[in-house]
Amino acid sequence: MGYESIWLKRAALPEGATAPKTIAETIAQELTALQNLRDDMIWAYLVTDALPEEGYDIVVNDRKADILGGSAVGVLYGIYDAQRQLIVNGTVVSVSERPACPLRMLNHWDNADGSIERGYSGRSFFFDDGKLLIDDRTSFYARLCASVGINATVINNVNVRGDATWLITDRYLERVREMADRFAAYGIRLYLCVNYAASIEIGGLGTSDPLEPAVAEFWKAAVAKVYAKVPSLGGFLVKADSEGRPGPHTYGRTQADGANMLARALAPYGGTLIWRCFVYNCAQDWRDTTIDRACAAYDYFHPLDGMFEENVVLQVKNGPLDFQVDEPVSPLFCGMTKTNLMLEVQAAQEYTGQQKHVCFLVPMWKDVLRFRTYAYSEHDRVEDIISGTHRRGACGFAAVANTGNDENWTGSDFAAANWYGFGRLAWKPQLSAEEIAAEWAGLTFEDSTVRNVVTKVLLASYGIYQSYTAPLGIGWMCNPNHHYGPNVDGYEYDRWGTYHRASCKAIGVDRTTKGTGFSAQYSEPLAKLYENPETTPMKHLLFFHRLPYTYVLPNGKTLIQHIYDTHFEGVEELRSLVENVVAVQGMIPEKEYTRIMERFGMQLSSAKEWRDRINTYFCRMSGIGDAKRRKIYAVSEEDLVYPGE
Ligand code: GCU
Repeated sequence: MGYESIWLKRAALPEGATAPKTIAETIAQELTALQNLRDDMIWAYLVTDALPEEGYDIVVNDRKADILGGSAVGVLYGIYDAQRQLIVNGTVVSVSERPACPLRMLNHWDNADGSIERGYSGRSFFFDDGKLLIDDRTSFYARLCASVGINATVINNVNVRGDATWLITDRYLERVREMADRFAAYGIRLYLCVNYAASIEIGGLGTSDPLEPAVAEFWKAAVAKVYAKVPSLGGFLVKADSEGRPGPHTYGRTQADGANMLARALAPYGGTLIWRCFVYNCAQDWRDTTIDRACAAYDYFHPLDGMFEENVVLQVKNGPLDFQVDEPVSPLFCGMTKTNLMLEVQAAQEYTGQQKHVCFLVPMWKDVLRFRTYAYSEHDRVEDIISGTHRRGACGFAAVANTGNDENWTGSDFAAANWYGFGRLAWKPQLSAEEIAAEWAGLTFEDSTVRNVVTKVLLASYGIYQSYTAPLGIGWMCNPNHHYGPNVDGYEYDRWGTYHRASCKAIGVDRTTKGTGFSAQYSEPLAKLYENPETTPMKHLLFFHRLPYTYVLPNGKTLIQHIYDTHFEGVEELRSLVENVVAVQGMIPEKEYTRIMERFGMQLSSAKEWRDRINTYFCRMSGIGDAKRRKIYAVSEEDLVYPGE
């Protein structure tokens, strides 16, 4: 078993290893891999009740290392930790580790036909042409996930259509079980996305009203059948009342009515119901400036706090809109103190360069995790909420996966660092972006100079991407539908509720209490901070405020000059990043190097396009020239003024 360019390639499995069927077999294989990395040490392991189930201790005494786990999975995680230490540092030290988040989950948006929604790495390796694929790659995927502590995976798209609706029926359950067993050998639980309208589409009922007894009966029977065949199933993930998907609102019912009905069906089997909060009106009239999509999730869900069954977890996107380059943290993390919550981020780079651009997302995710919510007390951060510090039920962290059947799994070699980084953060949110980048570079590349360059590239990449795309948290200036590349007005007159409302004087949506009122959804003192542009973090300034181009920022520049400067500088910084990699040509295997350079080529030309479109748009719109007289495509110099000159 083996695939290209991925972090475990130096922890080689034993010659001729086949996919493990049980966790005991997995442990045996991984111990051999460990032994191969360091054969002058004695490696021993033990399962002990003294540790929490998934926790482990590595105790090193001279040439002997004992790996103690709270369960077999704990032992496995300990072995992976030892492998990581050996590959990255060449030595192993004693550690004591417990996972932070109970659920550490990947959400794949794979369709039954083998396509992937927002997939940038080839086709699905779970599905093809209506069939489930189970082969070596399934197990190798599980190995990569388990090696970073991921313990749950949803293999099908949240938009459940066609064949995928039938995954919970006899047509698929035998194969679903086989797949679940593959994952179980690595301590991973399989979850499925279900179609909220299944009672109509496959149940023969005329309704999916959650309060209709026949609908509840349909789900009870369906779930009983599923668990009879797949007892290890983790549960369901549901996207309802969202972007054309059916849901309880169709029947005048609440999100809690819908979630609880399904949760009650799952409860007897210990199943968990994950319900997404991505609910908003996607048929908005752009002319109506009183509606603000950012307010929607909180408006729908906050009144229901405390009304969900214990086995319901609400999955909340990191920001109030939709995985933009930078959004403020969703206010649901501040206001839902009686409900289990999960954070959802997007490793698939839909709005962050589609795996053509290098964009290491860990720094952004870290900001979200460190964000103080003031939900329970002034000390709480998002990382505490999703660790379940205050809850008895399951909480956790999910990422929309960025994988596909490309040889290197993630299209871009560097994008694998986002998959890796997500797992590490879900295990230990306290790890810094620097530590994670260095670990991944250390696992993936052998040469220490290359490791340093790659770490540097990863750490700089998000800031650079941010600087040449939509400015100061405003988002959405991309091409509609596929979302790649710049198009400032692409969504301006559309139905999706994503507007910048730029005029010749100002830009932005006023989301304070004088505007749409979104800022008031946060707890104090956050609400007050966001009310005022001077106390709003600069990176989110245009998310909360409508400001004139001449507004002076904390860095002393006008808003328009800041836009020009960041866009010019972003492209230059990208160029120098590329040069850093060119300088280590010959130290990176040729195939990887060529692939990396191809993507850099695409990124550079796209970054220039972003720079020129954004700068030109705002130059023409504002009539204000660049104080540094760099090349902008204003129609005529005579149209421009240069304030202060
Ligand atoms: C985004 C994305 C969709 C996806 C949706 C979701 O809007 O563009 O493809 O279905 O998020 O998270 O459900």
